[in-house]
Amino acid sequence: MATTDYGIDAPQTLSNLYWRAGTFAAFGIGIYMMNRRELPGPAFTLMLVLLLIAAGFLAVAILMRQASQTGKLALRDTIINKIQWTGEEKVLDVGCGRGLLLIAAAKQLKKGRATGVDIWDPASLSANSQQNTIAMAKAEGVADRVKVETGDARNLTYGDNSFDVVLSSTTLHELPDAENRQLAIEEMVRVTKPGGQIAIFDVMHAGEYAEVLRNAGVEQIDDSHKTWLWLVPGRLVVGRKKA
Ligand SMILES: C[S@@+](CC[C@H](N)C(=O)[O-])C[C@H]1O[C@@H](n2cnc3c(N)ncnc32)[C@H](O)[C@@H]1O
Repeated sequence: MATTDYGIDAPQTLSNLYWRAGTFAAFGIGIYMMNRRELPGPAFTLMLVLLLIAAGFLAVAILMRQASQTGKLALRDTIINKIQWTGEEKVLDVGCGRGLLLIAAAKQLKKGRATGVDIWDPASLSANSQQNTIAMAKAEGVADRVKVETGDARNLTYGDNSFDVVLSSTTLHELPDAENRQLAIEEMVRVTKPGGQIAIFDVMHAGEYAEVLRNAGVEQIDDSHKTWLWLVPGRLVVGRKKA
């Protein structure tokens, strides 16, 4: 059975938005009900303003949820289509979460193997766990081609030149600063084989990545694909490690 539930990104932010929408709406209606006889005009105006604020929070929450449920599936396809596949690659997905790229990559493989690595932060993805990712791989029929491991993007335990394709989506912005993001990108380049392909999608800071990749020895860099998924600027950066 195919499934498309790869988790809701930033679930706590989403529930805060719903909570704020509900609070502003309830407050607005409450104020109107209490004052509608004495001050009907101002009470109505105040309710309208508070309901508009509530609608704003709700709209942002709905758009963010849609980005996680449908937007990132289209993004996944764009990323996967940027890679030139032979079907024999060794693939690494850094910050694999519930397997969005990992499973799509595994579906491209005839003989290769796809490894996902993550620290399983529950604040950045709903139901984020190694077991859930393995269950997704089983549900998608690729468990035999997938390995799921625990590890930090800044200190990958794989040897130099281990993977033909290294992928990452919406992960590096979770790191505290540019220095840590650079460390993670350099790790991704280190474990990529000469001539291997790298694709990184991220939000907010991805404008930094092309230069970091170039300095780390990646060429043929394309960073032209931009998005506003999750209502923040996002960019896909792809390239090839010098042979
Ligand atoms: C927003 S989720 C995206 C997950 C998945 N790539 C996707 O697109 O659905 C970010 C992921 O990065 C992981 N992550 C955060 N910091 C990490 C780190 N230092 N090393 C490895 N993974 C990390 C989180 O646990 C989470 O699974």
